[in-house]
Amino acid sequence: MIDRKMLVDAALGARAGAYSPYSKFCVGAALLCADGEVIIGANVENSSYGGTICAERVALTSAVVNGKRDFKAIAIVGAPCGESVGAYCAPCGICRQFMAEFCAGDFEILLFDGKEIKAYTLDTLLPAAFTKKDLEI
Ligand code: THU
Repeated sequence: MIDRKMLVDAALGARAGAYSPYSKFCVGAALLCADGEVIIGANVENSSYGGTICAERVALTSAVVNGKRDFKAIAIVGAPCGESVGAYCAPCGICRQFMAEFCAGDFEILLFDGKEIKAYTLDTLLPAAFTKKDLEI
């Protein structure tokens, strides 16, 4: 059983690590690995705006370089920096594709609006994904 509240709490804490001087929108993510470890991420922006990395990809890349390959769920929260979370923050398309590289269709994506947790599967948020399977010839 995934402890959704624990994962959302970890994402809320991760927001403190955001570096977002340009958008001033702070996002936190907490990734639950199959071995039970939780790896956090926050968005890291760049003066060359396209160089910005979302919280989700920070968490995933950090996990991958630490040897993790199997993941169960990710919690994502975002709001203007200095404000508490009051609306759902959905993952961008690049992050959905990034998740599809490593995560199965039943991978859970948890969003929180400050009151309620909404749970989606990766299959739902990125149907008919292009994945490494499509490169098998
Ligand atoms: N951002 C994330 O980190 N994750 C999301 O799911 C949505 C957007 C970041 C990117 C940028 O630093 C800021 O939020 C505004 O787009």
